[in-house]
Amino acid sequence: METTIQIKSLESIQEAAHEFVQKMGDSTVFAFRGEMGAGKTTFIKAVCEELGVEDVINSPTFAIVNEYRSRTGELIYHFDFYRINKLEEVFDFGYEDYFFSGALCFIEWPEKVEDLLPGDCINVYISEKEDRTREIIIK
Ligand SMILES: Nc1ncnc2c1ncn2[C@@H]1O[C@H](COP(=O)(O)OP(=O)(O)O)[C@@H](O)[C@H]1O
Ligand SMILES: [Mg+2]
Repeated sequence: METTIQIKSLESIQEAAHEFVQKMGDSTVFAFRGEMGAGKTTFIKAVCEELGVEDVINSPTFAIVNEYRSRTGELIYHFDFYRINKLEEVFDFGYEDYFFSGALCFIEWPEKVEDLLPGDCINVYISEKEDRTREIIIK
Protein backbone atom coordinates (compact mmCIF):
# COMPACT_ATOMS: atom_id res chain seq x y z
CA MET A 1 0.00 0.00 0.00
CA GLU A 2 1.25 3.48 -0.82
CA THR A 3 0.69 6.51 1.39
CA THR A 4 1.68 10.12 0.90
CA ILE A 5 2.26 12.60 3.72
CA GLN A 6 2.89 16.29 3.09
CA ILE A 7 5.04 18.44 5.37
CA LYS A 8 4.09 22.02 4.69
CA SER A 9 6.70 23.53 6.99
CA LEU A 10 8.87 22.70 9.96
CA GLU A 11 6.08 24.04 12.16
CA SER A 12 3.81 21.20 11.09
CA ILE A 13 6.39 18.42 11.00
CA GLN A 14 5.13 16.91 14.26
CA GLU A 15 1.68 16.37 12.75
CA ALA A 16 3.28 14.63 9.80
CA ALA A 17 5.36 12.48 12.14
CA HIS A 18 2.22 11.59 14.08
CA GLU A 19 0.55 10.46 10.87
CA PHE A 20 3.63 8.43 9.97
CA VAL A 21 3.67 6.66 13.34
CA GLN A 22 0.01 5.75 12.91
CA LYS A 23 0.86 4.13 9.59
CA MET A 24 3.90 2.18 10.75
CA GLY A 25 1.91 -0.90 11.69
CA ASP A 26 4.00 -3.89 12.70
CA SER A 27 6.87 -3.02 10.37
CA THR A 28 10.21 -2.45 12.05
CA VAL A 29 12.76 -1.60 9.36
CA PHE A 30 12.33 1.68 7.46
CA ALA A 31 14.67 2.85 4.69
CA PHE A 32 14.59 6.65 4.29
CA ARG A 33 15.48 7.58 0.74
CA GLY A 34 16.09 11.05 -0.58
CA GLU A 35 18.81 13.45 -1.62
CA MET A 36 21.17 15.13 0.78
CA GLY A 37 19.17 17.91 2.41
CA ALA A 38 15.78 16.37 1.60
CA GLY A 39 14.95 16.18 5.29
CA LYS A 40 15.59 12.56 6.31
CA THR A 41 17.31 13.29 9.62
CA THR A 42 14.81 16.00 10.50
CA PHE A 43 11.87 13.73 9.85
CA ILE A 44 13.37 10.76 11.72
CA LYS A 45 13.95 13.12 14.64
CA ALA A 46 10.29 14.18 14.57
CA VAL A 47 9.16 10.54 14.38
CA CYS A 48 11.39 9.64 17.32
CA GLU A 49 9.97 12.55 19.31
CA GLU A 50 6.52 11.29 18.50
CA LEU A 51 7.58 7.91 19.92
CA GLY A 52 8.68 9.64 23.11
CA VAL A 53 12.45 9.61 22.61
CA GLU A 54 13.99 12.20 24.88
CA ASP A 55 17.61 12.08 23.70
CA VAL A 56 19.04 14.73 21.43
CA ILE A 57 18.84 13.31 17.95
CA ASN A 58 21.38 14.19 15.32
CA SER A 59 22.68 12.47 12.28
CA PRO A 60 24.88 9.62 13.57
CA THR A 61 27.88 11.24 11.94
CA PHE A 62 30.65 9.46 13.77
CA ALA A 63 28.82 6.35 14.82
CA ILE A 64 27.07 4.33 12.12
CA VAL A 65 24.21 3.79 14.50
CA ASN A 66 22.63 5.67 17.39
CA GLU A 67 20.39 3.95 19.88
CA TYR A 68 17.36 5.56 21.50
CA ARG A 69 14.50 4.41 23.67
CA SER A 70 10.87 5.23 23.11
CA ARG A 71 8.53 6.20 25.93
CA THR A 72 7.45 2.56 26.20
CA GLY A 73 11.08 1.44 26.53
CA GLU A 74 11.23 0.11 23.00
CA LEU A 75 14.65 0.26 21.33
CA ILE A 76 15.07 2.39 18.24
CA TYR A 77 18.16 2.25 16.04
CA HIS A 78 18.99 5.18 13.77
CA PHE A 79 21.55 4.42 11.08
CA ASP A 80 23.45 6.65 8.73
CA PHE A 81 25.35 4.60 6.18
CA TYR A 82 26.57 7.61 4.22
CA ARG A 83 30.19 7.00 5.11
CA ILE A 84 30.15 3.29 4.39
CA ASN A 85 32.46 2.45 1.53
CA LYS A 86 32.59 -1.33 1.65
CA LEU A 87 29.96 -3.81 2.72
CA GLU A 88 32.64 -5.46 4.88
CA GLU A 89 32.34 -2.51 7.25
CA VAL A 90 28.66 -3.30 7.67
CA PHE A 91 29.34 -6.99 8.22
CA ASP A 92 31.99 -6.13 10.80
CA PHE A 93 29.61 -4.03 12.77
CA GLY A 94 27.06 -6.84 12.85
CA TYR A 95 24.14 -5.29 10.97
CA GLU A 96 22.05 -8.48 11.30
CA ASP A 97 21.87 -8.10 15.06
CA TYR A 98 20.05 -4.82 14.44
CA PHE A 99 17.99 -5.39 11.29
CA PHE A 100 16.58 -8.70 12.48
CA SER A 101 16.27 -7.83 16.16
CA GLY A 102 12.62 -6.82 15.96
CA ALA A 103 13.58 -3.35 17.20
CA LEU A 104 12.67 -0.30 15.15
CA CYS A 105 15.36 0.59 12.61
CA PHE A 106 15.36 3.94 10.81
CA ILE A 107 17.97 3.91 8.06
CA GLU A 108 19.50 6.85 6.21
CA TRP A 109 21.41 6.05 3.01
CA PRO A 110 20.01 2.51 2.71
CA GLU A 111 21.36 2.50 -0.88
CA LYS A 112 24.77 1.75 0.61
CA VAL A 113 23.51 -1.53 2.06
CA GLU A 114 20.78 -2.29 -0.45
CA ASP A 115 21.40 -6.03 -0.70
CA LEU A 116 21.43 -6.44 3.07
CA LEU A 117 18.05 -4.87 3.78
CA PRO A 118 15.37 -7.27 5.03
CA GLY A 119 12.76 -8.26 2.45
CA ASP A 120 9.98 -6.61 4.44
CA CYS A 121 11.82 -3.29 4.78
CA ILE A 122 9.49 -0.31 4.19
CA ASN A 123 10.70 2.39 1.81
CA VAL A 124 10.13 5.99 2.77
CA TYR A 125 10.86 8.47 -0.02
CA ILE A 126 11.42 12.08 1.00
CA SER A 127 11.66 14.88 -1.50
CA GLU A 128 11.75 18.65 -1.39
CA LYS A 129 9.29 20.39 -3.68
CA GLU A 130 9.91 23.69 -5.45
CA ASP A 131 8.03 25.55 -2.72
CA ARG A 132 10.36 23.88 -0.17
CA THR A 133 7.61 21.74 1.32
CA ARG A 134 8.43 18.06 1.71
CA GLU A 135 6.57 15.08 0.38
CA ILE A 136 6.88 11.68 2.01
CA ILE A 137 5.84 8.58 0.15
CA ILE A 138 5.70 5.32 2.07
CA LYS A 139 5.66 2.10 0.09
N1 LIG B 1 10.02 19.47 6.44
C1 LIG B 1 10.91 20.45 6.34
N2 LIG B 1 10.54 21.71 6.07
C2 LIG B 1 11.46 22.69 5.97
N3 LIG B 1 12.79 22.51 6.11
C3 LIG B 1 13.23 21.28 6.38
C4 LIG B 1 12.32 20.18 6.49
N4 LIG B 1 13.05 19.06 6.74
C5 LIG B 1 14.32 19.45 6.78
N5 LIG B 1 14.46 20.77 6.56
C6 LIG B 1 15.72 21.52 6.54
O1 LIG B 1 16.53 21.02 5.48
C7 LIG B 1 17.88 20.88 5.90
C8 LIG B 1 18.38 19.46 5.69
O2 LIG B 1 17.64 18.58 6.50
P1 LIG B 1 18.21 17.16 6.94
O3 LIG B 1 17.13 16.53 7.73
O4 LIG B 1 19.53 17.28 7.56
O5 LIG B 1 18.37 16.41 5.52
P2 LIG B 1 18.99 14.99 5.17
O6 LIG B 1 19.13 14.19 6.43
O7 LIG B 1 18.01 14.38 4.20
O8 LIG B 1 20.30 15.25 4.50
C9 LIG B 1 17.94 21.34 7.35
O9 LIG B 1 18.39 22.68 7.37
C10 LIG B 1 16.51 21.27 7.81
O10 LIG B 1 16.20 22.23 8.80
MG1 LIG C 1 20.79 13.12 7.28
